[in-house]
Amino acid sequence: MDNFEKVRSSFGKLEYMHHPQAKLLRDLIIKYDAQDILEIGFFHGKSSAYIASILEDLGRGHLVTLDRDTARKRKPNIEQVLSTLDLAHRVTPIFGPPVGRIIGKSNFKFGINNHRSNGPNSGHYPNLSRWQAMELNL
Ligand SMILES: C[S@@+](CC[C@H](N)C(=O)[O-])C[C@H]1O[C@@H](n2cnc3c(N)ncnc32)[C@H](O)[C@@H]1O
Repeated sequence: MDNFEKVRSSFGKLEYMHHPQAKLLRDLIIKYDAQDILEIGFFHGKSSAYIASILEDLGRGHLVTLDRDTARKRKPNIEQVLSTLDLAHRVTPIFGPPVGRIIGKSNFKFGINNHRSNGPNSGHYPNLSRWQAMELNL
């Protein structure tokens, strides 16, 4: 079983990323030869685990991913998810203040949000104005 399938078999029911979305993400990573990836918002770390598994299966690349301090208390949290899958070496998780506060001075932001129920800028990036935040709803 490859690392990508191990994410599904070990954490298939964990929120949030679904397997078909992860497959689309894998297609994009391969198509654009993505190697150093930045993710905003990891929650339990499931999408991070999928990205890490794709990089591991390709034998290269690294993910830096950001979320709020509160994500550390999730059960399981990203560190537990990644270590269960032996993928921690592919990911640098950063816990901190909301990203809008970190990058508040830039005039354009782009985020990927993996569920359709929330439209663009519907609360995921509360510190950003409508025209600063763009989301690609996969
Ligand atoms: C719907 S979850 C997606 C989790 C993950 N990408 C997945 O698919 O498994 C959105 C996450 O984004 C984080 N988030 C939302 N706004 C944020 C911000 N301004 N700065 C950092 N993290 C943020 C939330 O804390 C939450 O954990």
